[in-house]
Amino acid sequence: MLSKSQARTFFLGGTGVFTAAFLALTFDTHRRVPAQTHADKITPAVVRGKHIWEDNNCMGCHTLFGEGAYYAPELTKTVERRGPEFLRIFLKDPEAMFPGQRKMVNYHFTPDQIEDTIAFLDWCGKVDLNGFPPKPPLQKSVMPVAVQQITLTSTRTVPPIFQEKTCLACHSLLGKGVPTMMMPNMKGEVIAVPSLDEVYKRKSRKDLVTWITNPQAIKPGTPMPALVPAFVSPAQVEEIADFLMSLDPSAPQPASVPVAAPKAN
Ligand code: HEC
Ligand code: HEC
Repeated sequence: MLSKSQARTFFLGGTGVFTAAFLALTFDTHRRVPAQTHADKITPAVVRGKHIWEDNNCMGCHTLFGEGAYYAPELTKTVERRGPEFLRIFLKDPEAMFPGQRKMVNYHFTPDQIEDTIAFLDWCGKVDLNGFPPKPPLQKSVMPVAVQQITLTSTRTVPPIFQEKTCLACHSLLGKGVPTMMMPNMKGEVIAVPSLDEVYKRKSRKDLVTWITNPQAIKPGTPMPALVPAFVSPAQVEEIADFLMSLDPSAPQPASVPVAAPKAN
């Protein structure tokens, strides 16, 4: 048994030690915050994006740094996961990218507001969170969809339209774009987004045009977004189809392909 004075010393000593430890750790955390958050990278656009985030109650559906509601995806790493092109189109018209699924509100943001929102989310994604969020264990439920082409023999360059129209935010093409993105379809299965390198082997030109124009009509429940006509015009679909078909080595090669022929002076 402790005497009364021993108990008092024990209580005061213990409280003192733990208060000191608490203060030291608090001080240490605050000392690290500017470096871990890259406080020097908080540009005016990031600040404006944070106001957009708060004014629209995005946290009512999303989590950011793990905080918020669990209805919609965690957004800390969304810029890394999706890339800015995808988010630009997504924020302009959220339903276009996830046809027929849960709906995100269309806020009718101006292009500047979209850039600010992306700047804010990009800054969030670069904060050092000691490994949060963990990588999801997607591999277990992956359904094999199409064989990804690995041997790149073509020397063709990818026309800018594939980048501008966000195809490369999900697909790979001649080594450009996303190597293998996984996406859930409406049955809750996770599928691999096929590479477009050898799509000429799987689809005729006509099927390609129909598919890009209205994927849901061909494969209800597919996660491939309906980008026509809001983002991609019918004429651009023809241009895309022409290029993809021309990757067939046996197809007549378009005249616009730069040929590395020696110049005759
Ligand atoms: C009513 C609920 C709701 C609100 C509010 C909401 N979202 Fe969403 N958001 C969603 C859902 C659901 C998705 C999943 C995609 C879909 O099905 O449309 C999503 C997806 C996203 C994505 C794409 C995530 C990814 O990695 O694919 C971004 C970025 C995003 N939201 C940003 C925002 C921002 C910024 C705000 C506030 C201005 C906001 N959201 C407010 C429901 C919401
Ligand atoms: C949001 C991600 C996403 C974007 C953006 C996207 N796709 Fe897709 N695409 C998919 C997915 C997922 C599939 C596989 C669909 C399935 O099998 O259900 C697919 C399938 C395809 C196919 C069929 C491939 C095959 O092997 O049969 C073609 C062709 C295609 N996409 C072209 C395009 C083009 C062209 C663009 C740009 C205009 C584009 N996609 C933009 C996700 C995307």
